[in-house]
Amino acid sequence: MARSETRHVCQQCGHEALTWTGQCAGCGEWNTLVETRIGARSAPGGKRSAAGSAARAARGPGATPVRLREVKAPVEERLETGIGELDRVLGGGLVPGSVVLIGGPPGIGKSTLTAMALGQLSAAGRSTLYVTGEESAAQVRLRAERLGEAALEVPVLAETALDQILAVIEAERPDICVIDSIQTMNGSEAGGAPGSVGQVRESAAALMDCGKRRGVAIVLVGHVTKEGAVAGPRVLEHLVDCVLLFDGERERSYRTIRALKNRFGATSEVGVFEMRAGGLTEVLDPSARFVGSATPSPGSCVLCAMEGTRPVLVEVQALVAPTEIETPRRVVSGIDRNRLAMIIAVLARYGGVRLGSSDVFVNVAGGVRVDEPGADLAIALALASANSGEPLAGGGKGRLGCFGEVGLGGELREVAHPDRRVNEALKFGLTAVLGPPSSEPVTGLAVHSTLGKALRAARGRPQTGAGSKAAAARSGAVDRAA
Ligand code: TYD
Ligand code: MG
Repeated sequence: MARSETRHVCQQCGHEALTWTGQCAGCGEWNTLVETRIGARSAPGGKRSAAGSAARAARGPGATPVRLREVKAPVEERLETGIGELDRVLGGGLVPGSVVLIGGPPGIGKSTLTAMALGQLSAAGRSTLYVTGEESAAQVRLRAERLGEAALEVPVLAETALDQILAVIEAERPDICVIDSIQTMNGSEAGGAPGSVGQVRESAAALMDCGKRRGVAIVLVGHVTKEGAVAGPRVLEHLVDCVLLFDGERERSYRTIRALKNRFGATSEVGVFEMRAGGLTEVLDPSARFVGSATPSPGSCVLCAMEGTRPVLVEVQALVAPTEIETPRRVVSGIDRNRLAMIIAVLARYGGVRLGSSDVFVNVAGGVRVDEPGADLAIALALASANSGEPLAGGGKGRLGCFGEVGLGGELREVAHPDRRVNEALKFGLTAVLGPPSSEPVTGLAVHSTLGKALRAARGRPQTGAGSKAAAARSGAVDRAA
């Protein structure tokens, strides 16, 4: 049986030490070690897995390996949540008996999403259970009222004691059970407060074990702060089958959900939602929302981005303002700050656009985040346009879209799915699309091999009018390339 021994577990990174030290040897944080009882149940996340050795002992001498071909693997029917965007990210719905972790900052809509999913599942005849450790049953009801009739049919259990919850799951055997949130669960074996690494691990391991045995799909809700910190959910990532990150800016209505890990599907899919009065609404044509309002003004560029396997058009906006500050400001929203620094350097070196004495602000409109190198060219063009004070031309009238990675040598590099990006852009009425050379020719794409060439094309023909020269002089643009 399990021996009860204690370890000192870092609340930041999950590192375990035999003795208490002020600084964690794993991550270097101070005062993060908490004494935790390590039982057989709580240990699978630990380095020396007590559960692993227990399993080995339980197998006994009769255990024999089985050839994979002879392993029975029935094709499981997926539990479709009825929320298309969520099902797509899950790889076609929930797998019975699997464990899904939905992480996200507080207030983003995790409870709303899970309540909606359970409502739809119960309307489809599945048995469900919603365990709330954060809110009272009455609060959950109030939310469900906003979500509609189906959500009110879901059985709710307001409980934080792990053993009680396990007993209810054993008795009820629902098809799917949501635990909102894993940080409020309170197990009896590991010491420490709810939300500590020991508690989170013990609870998750016990729920997982119960779910796998009974074929219950378990959805764990976990809070992750903006920095992605909070040891809690992070230490679970390697335990669970699927990790979904629900993200967005609380002040804006768009939310994205993406899979960081998925044992039953692709991790590249992204679902887009909008938070409305009646809950989360799926955004099926994000391009129209993000670009429909975009006007061809200086500093604005349409990016043909990929969200998983789906192309989406977003507007990248830049503002360049002269500054007296010695270290000019670089403020970003929706893109990576280091990427911006690199693009500014390449623009100066190979594009003749010098921003060394200007504050630079770059924003992806609509509160979306683009995390792909394919966004480089759009950022560069938006910056150049903001600097010169002239809108991007797009070869005459109409709007221009672009995509492509910018290399340190000023070259444009190929990115994935150029054809889908171009098709999306043309579908939404853009008149020209600039991009890098690709191995397969893409119809409708104006190919440019370097950033300098793309810059020249985006500005239209070199302008000789006095007006534009004056504008360029006013904003301090020095364009060697044009
Ligand atoms: P919630 O699901 O409680 O977030 P989380 O569980 O991630 O902490 O909901 C977050 C916000 O969503 C809350 O501030 C209110 C808002 N909201 C709506 O705008 N419309 C709705 O229909 C619902 C249910 C919530
Ligand atoms: Mg919640």
